[in-house]
Amino acid sequence: MEIEPGEMTVGQLAERSGVAISALHFYERQNLIISRRTTGNQRRYKRDTLRRVAMIRIAQRVGIPLAEVAAILALLPDNRTPTRQDWGRISECWQAELDRRIVHLEQLRDDFKDCVGCGCLSLDRCALANPYDTLATKGPGPQRLIDPAGAPSHPATCH
Ligand code: FES
Repeated sequence: MEIEPGEMTVGQLAERSGVAISALHFYERQNLIISRRTTGNQRRYKRDTLRRVAMIRIAQRVGIPLAEVAAILALLPDNRTPTRQDWGRISECWQAELDRRIVHLEQLRDDFKDCVGCGCLSLDRCALANPYDTLATKGPGPQRLIDPAGAPSHPATCH
């Protein structure tokens, strides 16, 4: 088996990381991990790929999209695996993102309390069914079709 010091086969990486081989192949297609190919076209991974896989697993647990993880990894010079310092900065960003999502979910939970047992499913009344109804604050009627002077305007001028 052609294997350099400090390298792992995909099977070894799967065993060490606890991630299925099919998932590792998927990560590689998404440019999240990198391998070299042997003359027999087998994948070989540097040992520090384990750190990348750990970071990907954490991202998945906290709901960070894999495309975002790939974008962050692509910023690291020479395709290096995140160092301890890199990970420190990345995890701080993700904590801020997680905090934002928690606040958003708390708001959703509070809005949803009005829906529980309500049954109206009203686009006029329900904050969740029509969360972006900012035009309602401008008054009744089809606000996009009424110009500031109160006269109907052509739909092509909607903004
Ligand atoms: S369903 Fe009635 S307020 Fe949401």
